[in-house]
Amino acid sequence: MPEDLSLAPAGALPRLAPAGALPLCASAELEEAGKACVFDVMLWRRPARAFALRFEGRVVAYMNRCAHVPTEMDWQPGEFLDADRRFILCSMHGAVYEPTSGQCIAGPCAGERLMAIDVVESGGQVYWYPSPDIGPVVFDGPV
Ligand code: FES
Repeated sequence: MPEDLSLAPAGALPRLAPAGALPLCASAELEEAGKACVFDVMLWRRPARAFALRFEGRVVAYMNRCAHVPTEMDWQPGEFLDADRRFILCSMHGAVYEPTSGQCIAGPCAGERLMAIDVVESGGQVYWYPSPDIGPVVFDGPV
């Protein structure tokens, strides 16, 4: 996991992203066991969605793609946690995932896991790291 790369006190210097990381949202937007930040990515060069949420103080991020059937899991946009705010729960068939590991602990895909995305917090901002499989959305403009 990348380390916190805070560069300077707020206001002293422009905020710089850690090398290779892309801005996602302000840290303050992710409340403990609260609503997730949903964001667009390219998974294997196809448009897809991912999400980040804060659990036990740490920001975690995964593809919004159930390990059972590759479908989005949120109940409402950005709502992934169960009623007790303890587990990620797929809205389709009820797979239960452990938030800090993405491991499915109950349901039709028990033993499998969500696709994780590396994230880091720095200077009050959350950043995510692209990988060979998961990249940023690139908009093709007019030539
Ligand atoms: S699609 Fe998620 S449990 Fe079936």
